[in-house]
Amino acid sequence: MGEVIVIASGKDGVGKTVLAANLGAVLAQNNHSVVLMDLNFGSRNLDIYLGLENRIIYDLVDVVTGVCRIKQALVRDRRFANLFLISAPQSRQKASISAEQLKALCHELKKVFDFIIIDAPAGNDGGLSLAISAADRAVVVTVPEYAAIRDTEIISDLLESKGILNRSVVINKIIPELHQSGLVPEPEEIAEILRLPIAGLIAYDQNIHISTNMGVPIAAVQGSYIARNLNEIGIRILSKSL
Ligand SMILES: Nc1ncnc2c1ncn2[C@@H]1O[C@H](COP(=O)(O)OP(=O)(O)O)[C@@H](O)[C@H]1O
Ligand SMILES: [Mg+2]
Repeated sequence: MGEVIVIASGKDGVGKTVLAANLGAVLAQNNHSVVLMDLNFGSRNLDIYLGLENRIIYDLVDVVTGVCRIKQALVRDRRFANLFLISAPQSRQKASISAEQLKALCHELKKVFDFIIIDAPAGNDGGLSLAISAADRAVVVTVPEYAAIRDTEIISDLLESKGILNRSVVINKIIPELHQSGLVPEPEEIAEILRLPIAGLIAYDQNIHISTNMGVPIAAVQGSYIARNLNEIGIRILSKSL
């Protein structure tokens, strides 16, 4: 049986979708079969970050309402044969789905795939609760700013209250010079505030902007320090002993 990993955050713009796309690429590169599931109804981005935006015909709502079969809504990645995307609807008008429907869908996917990675909406509104309902474990993403850390703490507590005990944090958009000057909280302090193990640290890097525009997860660009880092993060997230 596969596992559902939800990528969550308190704030938007911290890098959830970048992490989801790259985690998918890393796991696929390591011979796991993966479905990336976008739960951002009306504001999906994963399709663009993967360069698959022109290939989407059906979405999650089409699957759960029986308009199409699961297989028809799974879009295969261009680079990795074992990486698939299932999108949220582009339009906000389209009805959402229930926790029961999502759980049933994930149950079917888990029979076939090793990992289902959910790119969740930010905040603790209905969308995130929906994502959590199907999750086996969670990775929360934050940036080294106290405001974001406080919002992350709220999300981590919400996850815990829903029974998601396997949680870790990725600290993104790190600017080393600011750390050297002591102007931003250190990763150890962030981990202590959140009471979470650190799955990884990702530097602020302009190449990430370029990669999202090109529709290429940067983890797929072999040889770069950032690809190596993301690979290590993927392996750490997989290890149960974080
Ligand atoms: N480590 C990073 N360095 C530079 N830019 C980043 C980094 N991580 C994410 N970004 C950029 O930040 C923005 C938000 O990232 P995204 O993954 O869409 O966030 P979220 O899904 O949490 O809203 C995007 O423009 C993305 O290219
Ligand atoms: Mg996003």
